[in-house]
Amino acid sequence: MWVPHYSDLAQPVYLMIADALEQDIGSGRLTAGERLPTLKDLAESLNVTPGTIGRAYDEAAKRGLVVGEVGRGTFVLQQRQAQAPAARPLMPPAERESGQIDLSIIKPNDAHMTDWLRGAINELAASPDLAQVLDYVTEGGHATHKQAGAAWIQRWMPEANWQQVVLTSGAQHGLLVAISSLSKGDDVILCESFCYPGIISLAHSMGRRLRGVAMDEHGLIPEALRTACMEHRPSLLVCVTTHQNPTNSIMPHARREAIAAIAREFDLFIVDDDIYGFLEPAPGYKPLAAYAPERSVYLTSLSKSVLPALRIGYLYAPPQTLSRLSSMVRSSVWMPSPLMAQLASNLINSGMAEQLVQVQQDEAATRQQMAREILGKYKIRSQPYSFHIWLELPEPWTSDEFANLARNNGVTVVSGSQFLPERSAATCGVRIALMTPSRSELGFALTKLVSLLDSPEPRLFY
Ligand SMILES: Cc1ncc(COP(=O)(O)O)c(C=O)c1O
Repeated sequence: MWVPHYSDLAQPVYLMIADALEQDIGSGRLTAGERLPTLKDLAESLNVTPGTIGRAYDEAAKRGLVVGEVGRGTFVLQQRQAQAPAARPLMPPAERESGQIDLSIIKPNDAHMTDWLRGAINELAASPDLAQVLDYVTEGGHATHKQAGAAWIQRWMPEANWQQVVLTSGAQHGLLVAISSLSKGDDVILCESFCYPGIISLAHSMGRRLRGVAMDEHGLIPEALRTACMEHRPSLLVCVTTHQNPTNSIMPHARREAIAAIAREFDLFIVDDDIYGFLEPAPGYKPLAAYAPERSVYLTSLSKSVLPALRIGYLYAPPQTLSRLSSMVRSSVWMPSPLMAQLASNLINSGMAEQLVQVQQDEAATRQQMAREILGKYKIRSQPYSFHIWLELPEPWTSDEFANLARNNGVTVVSGSQFLPERSAATCGVRIALMTPSRSELGFALTKLVSLLDSPEPRLFY
């Protein structure tokens, strides 16, 4: 049976297989008319999904190398039928269109998810479960979908029970539901002094007063939280304690404990946005919510671990808040899509979500290593498995200047100014997301950033 010899290991698997086919046809190792292995056989021998092999064969067909015949298999084309291979794109379509390498969006690496999902979607389409998830749902979602959510949350909180799970349409929706249900009017809400912009825009659109609490390399500083509580009497603290967005800090155990104690002292409710908690290899960090379960809403979604387009998230909340949270879900979206919730549940229950997490962790580890090597002489906040880094800019850069210059040079990063809850605050850093482009484009883009940082007189670029 034909098996490929890979050449460029930095590529997605399907492209490596298509390249190997091209090479073997060119060298005569595969001859015209020869039948290629079935998707299943080759998938088993390479330990990938049949979807990956299907995609590789599709790519080879696009290049005019093979042809698929229904019910018979895939065959190497006669040399004379083979069309000249299409010029290979140097960049994926999205990046080619804009001419930019996008390091602005934190998301999982595409190359690892599409094939897996193709299989899961096909399975759902063929399954008798499909009919159950095409209608409106009462009770805030199917019990089985909440059970899958609880199983996911049990990674970090083994005691989580499904009756306390509320389904949301992703974490941003979870934030909307939690913030609007647990605070009111012009309440003060506390957040980290560098804060995920989705929290800033939500708080502002609801008319809440958002105040940033000082951080260091370990995240929110408990003493600063205490001072802010005394000064502002806030109703809510919203924070990201693991792989913080944007500064990439991970809060140590003792600090989580101290923050939970301060929340009790000042009767503060916590929204614990743990959307990146899955990136820490098991057992990971106990969420802040586990230290103060009676006053915390734990929040996560599958957007970063599996796929942003799933739009499925989970809140885990104390019993006294459940009806408020569920009623806000109904008011805002009526219900998260049961179809997507079923797909998410299947991914969790089959163990595929967990496997995807491991694949993404491995990919993130490689990319963090690249970032440390390339940006090594500059100060970056890197974690071994994080999807992003925080780059502290040396004098005389300002965040906006550097982000603008990078964009003008084909690399999009996010200026630190986007993460400031209060306009008066200052920052000198940029957030760089590592997972979007191919590895080679990432290397190119990071090297470009270094060359800009190295320039002796940055302002001459303007
Ligand atoms: C800290 C944080 N919370 C929430 C979200 C929103 O996630 P979702 O796509 O699930 O709405 C993001 C997305 O970047 C994020 O970084």
